[in-house]
Amino acid sequence: MPVIAVINRKGGSGKSTLATHLAAWLSQQGLAVVLGDVDRQQSTRAWLKRRDTALPSIVPWALDQKNVLKVPPGVTHVVLDTPGGMHGFELAKVVMSADAVIMPVCHSMFDRESAAACYAELQTLPRVASGRCKLGVVGMRLDARTKAADALRDWAKALGVPFLGVLREAQLYVKSLDSGLTVFDLPGNAHAVDLLQWDPILEWLSPIMKVPHMSRTVVAEPAPIVMAPVQEESQRMNATRAASLMPAQEGLVHGNLHAFTRSGAHADADTPSDTRPTPSLQGAGAPQFLLRY
Ligand SMILES: Nc1ncnc2c1ncn2[C@@H]1O[C@H](COP(=O)(O)OP(=O)(O)OP(=O)(O)O)[C@@H](O)[C@H]1O
Ligand SMILES: [Mg+2]
Repeated sequence: MPVIAVINRKGGSGKSTLATHLAAWLSQQGLAVVLGDVDRQQSTRAWLKRRDTALPSIVPWALDQKNVLKVPPGVTHVVLDTPGGMHGFELAKVVMSADAVIMPVCHSMFDRESAAACYAELQTLPRVASGRCKLGVVGMRLDARTKAADALRDWAKALGVPFLGVLREAQLYVKSLDSGLTVFDLPGNAHAVDLLQWDPILEWLSPIMKVPHMSRTVVAEPAPIVMAPVQEESQRMNATRAASLMPAQEGLVHGNLHAFTRSGAHADADTPSDTRPTPSLQGAGAPQFLLRY
């Protein structure tokens, strides 16, 4: 099951924005996608709750009665949103099953420094070092024609990490997310420039994520965009912070071992060695679907 993780230590760099968009894009390709919210802020879960059920479906992170994270049958692709500041064991747990890591990076020196440190740590992980997990950088909130975009491109080149493209700063991103949408869900052509910016990112991802025939996402029937009333905001946010989810999030983020514990017995002789979890991570709190069989 191909897994994309969106990772950067820097808070506010655009991880949740990228994760929701990638999940929406995969679902529009007809794939059964789960959007996993490793982030304790539960940003993407809150977004999913706003999403119109008539849109291509995205399966939320789910827990069974024993508080074990499970992907419903039939799901074929996973997108993981992650919290800022993730490093060490928590980072390794997420990356051990990722096929691709996308790092959203804004253009300030602080952003680049933080991203470089995150990249350096990612490079130390066996799955990344061996090339089984690919890394790519996306410049966030940038005008592609500016010096800032060039500087970020040069920075990525110097680091040796693929620079996949830039997404411009646009209120469209903020407003569509408020309504459970992404730019992929919007009707009309007003956002064509934004869709174009996604092309190189999606082209890079398609073979890694085994997307059969990548197609540009076009909304067949224009639908009115219903923006969420501001008054409902706090109610919605409260509703999305389901108390029952928190133990699982604790388990993933802080290595609370009982929540997702799995014995290492499943890594049997049939399992290709390159897809087994590293021994030190088996049964160590990672959600079950993240452990490859
Ligand atoms: N291209 C864009 N144009 C305008 N605003 C954007 C764009 N991308 C992201 N944003 C806004 O930037 C803010 C931070 O984005 P986001 O929540 O995706 O970051 P994050 O990395 O997930 O943050 P955190 O580390 O807190 O989880 C949000 O308000 C989001 O709507
Ligand atoms: Mg976030």
